[in-house]
Amino acid sequence: MCCDLKRRFLLLYATQKGQAKAIAEEIQQQAGAHGLEADMHCLSEMDKYNLETEKDPVVIVISTTGTGDPPDTARKFVKKIQDKNLPPDHFAHLQYGLLGLGDSEYTFFCNGGKTVDRRLQELGARHFYDTGLADDCVGLELVVDPWIDGLWLALKETFLLQKDMNSDVNAVSSSLSTAPHIVNELNLSSEVQNLKLEDEAVRSSDVLTQKLVDINLVASTRDTEPSLVHSVPPVSQSALNIPTLPPECIEVEFQDNHGENPHLSSLISEGAAFEVPVTKAVQLTREDAIKTALLLELDIADTVFDYQPGDAFCVICPNNVNEVEELLHILGLSEKAECFVCVKVKQGTKKKGATRPQHIPERSTLKFILTWCLEIRAIPKKAFLRALVECTSNVGEKRRLQELCSKQGASDYTRFIRDSHVCLLDLLHAFPSCKPSLNLLIEHLPKLQARSYSVSSSSLYQPGKLCFVFNIVEFPACPARPVSRKGVCTGWLTELVAPLLNPSKNTLDTKGGSPSTEKV
Ligand SMILES: Cc1cc2nc3c(=O)[nH]c(=O)nc-3n(C[C@H](O)[C@H](O)[C@H](O)COP(=O)(O)O)c2cc1C
Repeated sequence: MCCDLKRRFLLLYATQKGQAKAIAEEIQQQAGAHGLEADMHCLSEMDKYNLETEKDPVVIVISTTGTGDPPDTARKFVKKIQDKNLPPDHFAHLQYGLLGLGDSEYTFFCNGGKTVDRRLQELGARHFYDTGLADDCVGLELVVDPWIDGLWLALKETFLLQKDMNSDVNAVSSSLSTAPHIVNELNLSSEVQNLKLEDEAVRSSDVLTQKLVDINLVASTRDTEPSLVHSVPPVSQSALNIPTLPPECIEVEFQDNHGENPHLSSLISEGAAFEVPVTKAVQLTREDAIKTALLLELDIADTVFDYQPGDAFCVICPNNVNEVEELLHILGLSEKAECFVCVKVKQGTKKKGATRPQHIPERSTLKFILTWCLEIRAIPKKAFLRALVECTSNVGEKRRLQELCSKQGASDYTRFIRDSHVCLLDLLHAFPSCKPSLNLLIEHLPKLQARSYSVSSSSLYQPGKLCFVFNIVEFPACPARPVSRKGVCTGWLTELVAPLLNPSKNTLDTKGGSPSTEKV
């Protein structure tokens, strides 16, 4: 990369136990690879930086301690910016991105970062990148890694805007100095007008993207950073050791449309299944809480289900309707959704001991199989990726899938598939020329498991009722998953009980829920 692209940004951190510092060091280390230079300091080193005169973008990593307090090393800084005499445009020249660290087990989640963020905004500073709030309770890396990944493009866009502004300002001043005789009020104001228009145009994303492409910043980012669909050396240049192709062992046959789907109770191998009404749903957390906890009450009076508080029980849940439809669409099978499918072991298969998967009924509709039997959200195993290679027509996509299941691409598999919770649908979006057959999905997707929960009520106190509490699981959007998703079961339960939910100040004792026909 060209030396003159090596731009500086100010990197400030405040830590109590060392994590914010370690993350800042990681940012500093990665900056070099992006042709940038991080001028890193602890927030307490106030003689080494000066936000009042800072022109370059500022990145702040700050944790929380005590009861929502900034770390000790940030105290002086916070006190300084809290000064009530500062004017509202005090930091109007400042562009910054802030990463807050905290733990959602504490009442004032990430309050150290939030305090600084709020005050900088009040003093006129602007975000060049959205604030990230990382939760130590679930793993800081869930937010930190994607936040850092996105930081580089945001910084480069900021530098680009600054560069364009500067060159336009230079253009104005050079026209002023080289042609003094034509400088009059009219010309000057028209130049200023141009400058304003140009500035607005630069801010429009189309132009911006075009400009980024023009100066190769984006191209170089793409070239140097691997992603789900893109590899870099050495993986992209390696000869690959890929697993042998597993022999196909399943055959599916579409049949006429007569008959009924099996009862859901036939899907579980142990114990009895009951369909019961949900009689109450209460949101236990506030609207602004980082996680949403729901309490559901089931009416089990008509069942023989017996329990002790704390016992585990399972909920048989379907896959998300929209995801099933999307999958049917991508597979080109939407028209056959209601057709009955007969699943058999393929005649003459080379797979030893091949049997029909027990979780697929002998005869049921295609939609039933995708809705109730297959874990379509499962993280694809390498053997599945290997099989998908054979269904992919685009050469580049084929190669990337080979890499992801190869020995050489093991860390890419971990990073872009396993740790990113990528599922089959994500892969089919990312590799659009991949068109797997239905039998391949049935062979490789595992059984859709019933989800376990703990009973939070007592039948002595609430006879005929069973209560349980869960957090709604969220998988945030990331480069490999363009849309955020909720957990299969918690997402389904949430949709199911939406009509019962009364978010306003419910508590465990509230008797607000009305009996309903929602059933699990
Ligand atoms: C004594 C103590 C108090 C904490 N108080 C809070 C808090 O009020 N709010 C919060 O979101 N996190 C709180 N945390 C969690 C930390 O902010 C979190 O673990 C963070 O990752 C620590 O980063 P650091 O090592 O850079 O200080 C606290 C942690 C400790 C050890």
